[in-house]
Amino acid sequence: MSGPANNIGPAPNELIAALQWQIDVGADEAIADYPVDRFALAAQKATQKAAAVPAAPAPEVPAPITAPMPPLAPAATPTARLATNDAITASARSAAESAPDLAALSDSLAAFDGCALKTTATNLVFGDGQENAEVMLIGEAPGRDEDREGKPFVGASGQLLDVMLSYVGLSRDENIYITNILPWRPPGNRQPTDAEIAACLPFLAQHIALVSPKILVFLGGTSAKTLLGRREGITRLRGQWYEYTSPALENAGIAPIPAMATLHPAYLLRQPAQKRAAWKDLLSVRQRLDTLTK
Ligand code: URA
Repeated sequence: MSGPANNIGPAPNELIAALQWQIDVGADEAIADYPVDRFALAAQKATQKAAAVPAAPAPEVPAPITAPMPPLAPAATPTARLATNDAITASARSAAESAPDLAALSDSLAAFDGCALKTTATNLVFGDGQENAEVMLIGEAPGRDEDREGKPFVGASGQLLDVMLSYVGLSRDENIYITNILPWRPPGNRQPTDAEIAACLPFLAQHIALVSPKILVFLGGTSAKTLLGRREGITRLRGQWYEYTSPALENAGIAPIPAMATLHPAYLLRQPAQKRAAWKDLLSVRQRLDTLTK
């Protein structure tokens, strides 16, 4: 590298070369919350050394990972936001609540005719992972790959999710369970309707009660809004702790479950810069899980 072109900082070609070097060694995204101006710090240190004055304290680096856990906010009733068909909801509830285990719940969902998506889907996509998982993740609906394989999150977004989870010690083989708001693929991956969600919700509520995880993670806006009974978008809802409960949990005598909402991995594939926010959420999940299992 050549020296500075003037005395106000490095030349543009030096900055580009430095950036290229970072990319070459694999640093392809910023990981701190705030940019740190290393040039300004170096200049500041040199000045301080010359003047032989004690060094100023290092700039403040936020430490969200070790912050005390915030209190849980109660969720609204999950169905409060949805326009429901009472007859379908009642039949779904009685079919779901009579299922004593996951195999029975899967059978009873397969026999349920209250959601027309069943007629266009190839397979029922029920769930995957450990039946007694500590963490249960809930996405939106199966896509093409999931519909074909009958398993949630097996496509590109699922692969990204698995990698991200592995960094916080979570995996389908060990300690998580994963399912969706809807067990059937909406044609062409269209947005699920409120009626479809409401028809399937009693099965999901029973699904959660049967797994009875320590922590719930809602992936994306549809999951978070449905299960928290909220209208705000995911960028407002994410990163905070809530309490999820339902009649199915109450019937089973299970206390409200701490729940975190985060960004959907399919969104992260389109907006990689948002991975930092999702990463923060997963670290918070890890931290809370550690406090619950101590
Ligand atoms: N997106 C989801 O929300 N769920 C899946 O299973 C796959 C993609």
